[in-house]
Amino acid sequence: MKRDLISISDLKREEIIKLLKDTKKIKDRWYSNLPWFPLTGKTMLLIFEKPSTRTRVSFEAGFSQLGGRSIFITPQESQLSKGETIEDTARTVSRYVDIVVLRVFEHEKVVRFAQNSKIPVINGLSDLLHPCQILADLFTIWEKLGRFEDFKLVFVGDGSNNVANSLVELAGIMNFELVITCPPGYEPEKDILNEALKKGGNIKINYDPFEAVKGADVIYTDVWCSMGQELEYEKRLQIFKDFQVNSKLMGLAKRETLFMHCLPAKRGLEVTDEVIDGPNSIVFDEAENRLHVQKAIVLFLLGINP
Ligand code: CP
Ligand code: NVA
Repeated sequence: MKRDLISISDLKREEIIKLLKDTKKIKDRWYSNLPWFPLTGKTMLLIFEKPSTRTRVSFEAGFSQLGGRSIFITPQESQLSKGETIEDTARTVSRYVDIVVLRVFEHEKVVRFAQNSKIPVINGLSDLLHPCQILADLFTIWEKLGRFEDFKLVFVGDGSNNVANSLVELAGIMNFELVITCPPGYEPEKDILNEALKKGGNIKINYDPFEAVKGADVIYTDVWCSMGQELEYEKRLQIFKDFQVNSKLMGLAKRETLFMHCLPAKRGLEVTDEVIDGPNSIVFDEAENRLHVQKAIVLFLLGINP
């Protein structure tokens, strides 16, 4: 049976640990310059409705570094823009390529695409979830803390966005403490939160960022206004203004608390320059790890052992 990566919940705890370990192998091999082309003859298709730097470039570069080739299109360049259905598109491209990455607005599009394709489908971000990001984040935490469980992560800002929802899913599977500190009304998606809590996730919502960050091993933030929410920009600046990650907030955690951000960042809004460029920031290691994790995800879904 073909596998997809639409959400973190598609994975079991053991599979997440395998992905972390595979990523370590792949990253070490990359740094030792050992030639390795397990994807020779394979093709990846990327269909992106939204802009991207990290997800697109790391998937395309990663796939070609492993010997494969990739094709990138936007809906405008395909017949999707002329009304061809997602279902017909999925059925067609399944016959041409080996794996597909989608970046979409409505989450249901990636679900429908996956239901209609014979090949693995990866969610490269939807309005609801961003699973590839969160796997790279966990790998980065493992590298930095030496453990992938037993830590406290505090997400500061828009708790209702794709990154926060995927973190909640992860906390439902892996053993760590997740605190979401957000303004009322910007909590994670109810169903996702309830499901993660039902699985035993140690997840709390705290409306006071100054209280929430106490004892954090990691403080994580993301933009206040995600792609597609541009019309709410001014309103959101007001709502989130007390949720900026700045030196004062970092100072309430620990001296060694790590700062993470999925990027791109809006400097001066959700994070100040001194924090993102400061000694506790690991945002570019986090961004680099997208490359290594994407390779592990692709190999996992194609059933190739690294
Ligand atoms: N973090 C992330 O997904 O970045 P891009 O939007 O640049 O792909
Ligand atoms: N929440 C952000 C993540 C970008 C990688 C967005 O959806 O725009």
